Amino acid sequence: DKAALLNAIIENAIDGIITIDERGRVESINPSACKLFQYEPEEVVGHNISMLMPPPDREQHDGYINRYQRTGQPHIIGIGREVQGLRKNGTVFPFRLGVSEVQYSGRKIYTGFIHDLSREKEAEDRLREYA
Ligand code: HEM
Repeated sequence: DKAALLNAIIENAIDGIITIDERGRVESINPSACKLFQYEPEEVVGHNISMLMPPPDREQHDGYINRYQRTGQPHIIGIGREVQGLRKNGTVFPFRLGVSEVQYSGRKIYTGFIHDLSREKEAEDRLREYA
């Protein structure tokens, strides 16, 4: 059925996919996102998404979500942005973040799409060294 198909797509996606509730708490994380951030799902689910980012966004992310809910003015939803992720071992990596807002069984959730940019950045840095 449709739910099983969607689940198979999410489980096997190359990009990371994370869903949060309207307060920023992680509800689901796919294997690709777990691999990128180096966490097991149960270490992330139920915790604030801000655990996956370095300062200053870490301290401000609840405020970003609140501001959006108050004003309806998106800064990433429908636009995308290059941001920094924080792995369990404390290292950071760049990725392209897309966020969409989903109305799901009477409540609002946000879905984040995470496209790793580490390799592209490394290649850019190497090119700059030779320039
Ligand atoms: C807004 C950073 C992950 C949901 C933002 C903003 C930044 C940011 C910089 C907007 C700041 C501004 O007002 O200009 C990050 C970083 C992440 C991350 C560094 C690294 C883990 C996520 C994920 C989701 C998410 C995975 C969803 C599952 C949102 C929402 C907003 C937001 C709903 C407010 C709406 C908007 O501004 O469009 N985030 N974010 N974020 N983020 Fe994140």
